[in-house]
Amino acid sequence: MPALFADDAFDRGPRVIAPGAVWLPGFLDDAGQAWIVRQYAQWRTGPVPPHSTTIMGHPMSVTTIGLGWHWRPGRYDREAVDVNRERVPPFPDWMTRLGRQILTAAAEAVDADPDHPTGAADAWGFDPAHYSPDVALINYYDEAAKMGMHQDKDEHDPASVVSLSLGDTCTFRFGNTETRNRPYEDIRLASGDAFVFGGPARFAYHGVTKIHPDTAPDSARLSDLGGGRINITMRTTGRD
Ligand code: SIN
Ligand code: MN
Repeated sequence: MPALFADDAFDRGPRVIAPGAVWLPGFLDDAGQAWIVRQYAQWRTGPVPPHSTTIMGHPMSVTTIGLGWHWRPGRYDREAVDVNRERVPPFPDWMTRLGRQILTAAAEAVDADPDHPTGAADAWGFDPAHYSPDVALINYYDEAAKMGMHQDKDEHDPASVVSLSLGDTCTFRFGNTETRNRPYEDIRLASGDAFVFGGPARFAYHGVTKIHPDTAPDSARLSDLGGGRINITMRTTGRD
């Protein structure tokens, strides 16, 4: 149980978690959340179904759909070579626009934060006009799913990762670039929250330690799936 009257239950404003890492609670309104949940219902129908990627011989507890590229540890392919060999759908233009809007809001949050010098957002590479992610990994978590601490390091381009959460709230652990252990911070990513990690935080370890069942707002409840959480991460592979 989260502590009653804990600060994070009230303070849902943008927050710089670490240099290069920005949390934007409630970035997407109810209508936007509902619309993306409907897109997920489409993506689920194929051409490549949600699948559990195998890491070092073990299937992940989340299922993944790729847009733009198909991900496997250390690899990006245009076809889902280890699932059904189908070509993945293209990365949608609306998602590029959404990613740029999130990056813009993240840069504004950094500029407004007195703890960070003027120009910090630029120094961290928060450059919305030139942000062109080419892959989205869409992960579905049922109430038992988790994601261990890891770095996103299969991309050859250091552009920021932009993340968007829908459905049930999770506990998201955001750590440091050196080890998967402390120091880290646990935050509760709720439906509609965006999170950006770039610049000095681009290769920080991060993971999901818990899904909080039945916490989704009505607009983004994943009823067809019996609840759970969707996370979208946009990345720039630097591949062609
Ligand atoms: C990821 O690390 O790829 C997903 C993180 C999340 O589910 O918030
Ligand atoms: Mn990741």
